[in-house]
Amino acid sequence: MKTISIIEKLEKNHTASREELVFLLDGITADEREILRKAAQKRALESFGNRVYIRGLIEISSVCKNDCLYCGLRRSNPNAVRYRLTREQILSCCETGRSLGFRTFVLQGGEDGYFTDEVMCGIVEEIKRRYPDCAVTLSLGERSEESLKRLRGAGADRYLLRHETADEAHYARLHPKEMSGAHRKSLLYTLKKLGYQTGAGFMVGSPYQTTENLADDLLFIKELSPQMCGIGPFIPHSDTVFRDFAQGSLEMTLTLLSVIRLMNPFILLPATTALGTIHPKGREMGILHGANVVMPNLSPKEHRKDYAIYDNKICTGDEAAECIKCLSGRMNAIGYRIVTDRGDYKGMQAQG
Ligand code: 5AD
Ligand code: FES
Repeated sequence: MKTISIIEKLEKNHTASREELVFLLDGITADEREILRKAAQKRALESFGNRVYIRGLIEISSVCKNDCLYCGLRRSNPNAVRYRLTREQILSCCETGRSLGFRTFVLQGGEDGYFTDEVMCGIVEEIKRRYPDCAVTLSLGERSEESLKRLRGAGADRYLLRHETADEAHYARLHPKEMSGAHRKSLLYTLKKLGYQTGAGFMVGSPYQTTENLADDLLFIKELSPQMCGIGPFIPHSDTVFRDFAQGSLEMTLTLLSVIRLMNPFILLPATTALGTIHPKGREMGILHGANVVMPNLSPKEHRKDYAIYDNKICTGDEAAECIKCLSGRMNAIGYRIVTDRGDYKGMQAQG
């Protein structure tokens, strides 16, 4: 087996076997990584040109009834500062975002019981009424099929729910016992069935993760064929039991971005804030490795620092306008440009 021939296979067939993926991820050299990067960048340029889509991220609540072991907002962290945006605050973030050129709003939050279907549907309906040309993405953790259906009916277009790890035994080591990887994955199929543009994803370098786990993540993405995939390095949070684990590697995250791009030519792939957190040029590197989305923060400045899922998160002190200026400068500097269209999925697969 040779890494170069696996890269060629990924370029041509958009897939590889589990063994080949493990071999590539374990053994890739710096020179081979550059070949992989170039192939992924070329593929992204063919799919999107030098266009980078933006999504306005609004962190609506740091309250969470869940207890994921890696997350700083887990319910058993007594040091987490809890806040919840009001409907008016959320709408005002959208207003700011709309005027800055955003056409997608991502409402993300912990699993906060305050945001019942009734409350959430009202907010989604109002955003869609005010800004019919904008997409609404929800990222609110696990909800029942009935709830997801109601939110979809209220006008939500997209839903992000990272699968975190495709391996159920590994999933169990990262989550409280009432959660299950099988349920998580089945919810992703439910989201597709309900007609959401669906985002899956995983952390790179999470505790106990093996290369085989990562290969399974890649194959799960291939099989689910979501419209979006969010990946970023695991970053330890000092108030969690994983505080002493190492952060995920920059090189491995970039390699995975490239492999995902080759396996899924049209997938919407963000250069994440976590990637920008572990390296000052992380997001630029992400784009150059095949990513095509960035997600500037639209949350009110006074709450930014309290949406602390991991330590040292970037952009916690900046206004939305500064963030978008900063990012568009960063993209221009590497030959890309931020575009303001909705950036819906353009692949040929069924939309679910
Ligand atoms: N490091 C990196 N990413 C994290 N997430 C949660 N906690 C961490 C952490 N400590 C990711 C999860 C989640 C997303 C919102 O953030 O993948 O789905
Ligand atoms: Fe937020 Fe640079 S992207 S300050």
